[in-house]
Amino acid sequence: MSEIMSFHEVVRRRHSIRNFLPDPVPESIVRAVLSEAQLAPSNCNTQPWQVHIASGAKRNELAAAIIAADESGDASPDFSFDTGDYTGVYFQRAMEQGASYYRSIGVSREAMEDRRMAARLNYSFFHAPCVAMLFMPSVGDNVRIASDIGMYAQTFLLSLTAHGLGGIPQTALGFYAGTIRKVLGIDDSLKMLFGISFGYPDEHAAGHSYRIGKAAIEESVTFYS
Ligand SMILES: Cc1cc2nc3c(=O)[nH]c(=O)nc-3n(C[C@H](O)[C@H](O)[C@H](O)COP(=O)(O)O)c2cc1C
Repeated sequence: MSEIMSFHEVVRRRHSIRNFLPDPVPESIVRAVLSEAQLAPSNCNTQPWQVHIASGAKRNELAAAIIAADESGDASPDFSFDTGDYTGVYFQRAMEQGASYYRSIGVSREAMEDRRMAARLNYSFFHAPCVAMLFMPSVGDNVRIASDIGMYAQTFLLSLTAHGLGGIPQTALGFYAGTIRKVLGIDDSLKMLFGISFGYPDEHAAGHSYRIGKAAIEESVTFYS
């Protein structure tokens, strides 16, 4: 893509992509994105991200192993995640997000099997040709390390957008951290926070125009003077 986007445009254009074209991403572009993500800030410049990227045959092997683990109920997360732990407005936003996404792809609230099928697309990386698994060393209570991974991930996602690509961060992939470690031969000392599927967005797919709303800044920010 020769078009140069302003930061303003990149940050507004980025959104989670849940439909990808099978087209491979040239290695030069993946490396350009990784070079930009590498500029992310981190606590004491520790740069604790360990990023494992799969494409081609390894991507297919990984998807098959995760799907098999999911079907046999063999979850192996390094960190817990339960939307039921959220309360108040945070729980409400999580519920709204799920409902409006399923609505956008024509799946009703009651169609539980269709919902499960749609959720399972997480494990085939929403058809993306590439996936980045974000691993980290375990340090203390891991809060600082996890925030560094978040900094890295958003820089990665914005860079994808600037290069005409798209991505989606996926906690769902982290549910199968043990399986992913096994397939990729990653040491047990590294913990997985989440993955990012990425590639070229399929602009003709159902739900492509779906955008979730964001709270007004007054709901998130308190000013003092
Ligand atoms: C750390 C993280 C994990 C996420 N995990 C998932 C996931 O497992 N599956 C999914 O469909 N979306 C996932 N999302 C995407 C969120 O639903 C999405 O970011 C949110 O609804 C806001 O939409 P936007 O990214 O389009 O702005 C995740 C986002 C983040 C930041």
